[in-house]
Amino acid sequence: MKISVIGCGYLGAVHAASMAHLGHEVVGIDVDEARVATLAAGVAPFHEPGFDALLQENLPRLRFTTDMSAVKDSTVHFIAVGTPQAANGSADMTYVNQAVESLAHHLSPGDLVVGKSTVPVGTATTLAEIIAPTGAMLMWNPEFLREGFAVEDTLSPDRLVYGLPEGDRADEARDLLDTVYEAILAQGTPRLLVNYATAELVKVAANSFLATKISFINAMAEIADVTGANVTQLADAIGHDNRIGRRFLNAGIGFGGGCLPKDIRGFVARAEELGVGESLAFLKDVDDINLRRRRRVRTILEEELGDLSGKRIALWGLAFKPDSDDIRDSPALDIGESLARAGAIVTAFDPAAHGPASRRVTAAGLQDSILFAESPADAATGADGIVVATEWGVFRDQNPEAIAPLVNTPLVVDGRNCLPESQWKAAGFTYRGMGRS
Ligand code: UDX
Repeated sequence: MKISVIGCGYLGAVHAASMAHLGHEVVGIDVDEARVATLAAGVAPFHEPGFDALLQENLPRLRFTTDMSAVKDSTVHFIAVGTPQAANGSADMTYVNQAVESLAHHLSPGDLVVGKSTVPVGTATTLAEIIAPTGAMLMWNPEFLREGFAVEDTLSPDRLVYGLPEGDRADEARDLLDTVYEAILAQGTPRLLVNYATAELVKVAANSFLATKISFINAMAEIADVTGANVTQLADAIGHDNRIGRRFLNAGIGFGGGCLPKDIRGFVARAEELGVGESLAFLKDVDDINLRRRRRVRTILEEELGDLSGKRIALWGLAFKPDSDDIRDSPALDIGESLARAGAIVTAFDPAAHGPASRRVTAAGLQDSILFAESPADAATGADGIVVATEWGVFRDQNPEAIAPLVNTPLVVDGRNCLPESQWKAAGFTYRGMGRS
């Protein structure tokens, strides 16, 4: 089938290459000429395991352009543009609206437009009215991909959610998307048929649940810190109950990235617009608990070192999670900036995120106090404290006996509770975890 994907950011680029992998002829459209040129050359514009190979293998069935009229040969059109956070916390719908208005000029009767972007509930109904005069149909088909597992999550998702139009065209729309996802459905992937509002809500509800789970365990970490309990053992113990589950119960410096923080804020803003703000008031607490985690690291350093002015801090990790170069709303980078503003000299190392991080550091005018190191050991040399802010395997695997002679003060703050505590203590370090000291 001929498919277009509008918006070639993280979601769209992976989706386009994955659809080509399924055997479809795909054109990816983006307004960013540099991004289009990079993708057309078979180069991934971001760090994502397996994406380079997927892109290169499927280039014969993939085309990228800035010209929207290139969609006219396609039957199915995926909308995968970004919905960044606006100043008031709501989702900024500028790119979605522009994409659909521009796409509408090139649609033919019987075409199917499939929304994948994360949008405020109610959006699909409005967009369906815009495209109705063209004779095309609209479905909402949220994605749940995790960075670091984007290819796997796209090609072998936990479930497919189809938000169908009301009325007699629902079957036609469903059958078209079934044809696109034939190979995925053949793996036995569950497919849920729902209405527009449910499909839109599934995405934000799932992310709100995950965010709540993380903030719940971080709230327990706050309690553990004043009672002498160990939050990791607590998570292990409650996680054995299948109704609770152990995943997403890792306490630490909290969640970041391009989805969880913005999605919960956008959801709260939308609920308030709908007059049901009270229903999601708890998500403000979830957000507050999460942001407090970033401040906790600085508090621990001050408890151990006093005034941070002139102190050298090694920052292990900058990306919001391992296996990613994404620094959007990254707790790690926020902590680095806050320490630099407190007068510390921060020496950072991240296996993937130096490029985007150094651009943000320069834009913030902090390039003299946040420096970039060649390795974890290089960052730790002369340090008064090491902060582990992203749980990359390379940090977990460091030998504390080899790091100990390099540092000025043997202090490690394990912001992700990912280091082998006893080994670091045996090497002479003061070990401070999150909710376990
Ligand atoms: C998330 C959702 O998981 C995904 O389904 C959705 O499509 C997009 O948003 P992603 O942003 O890639 O995916 O990150 P995720 O793996 O969910 O992690 C989010 C943040 O939570 C990271 O900063 C991570 O470090 C943090 N986290 C995760 C914790 O602090 N503790 C945990 O136990 C798990």
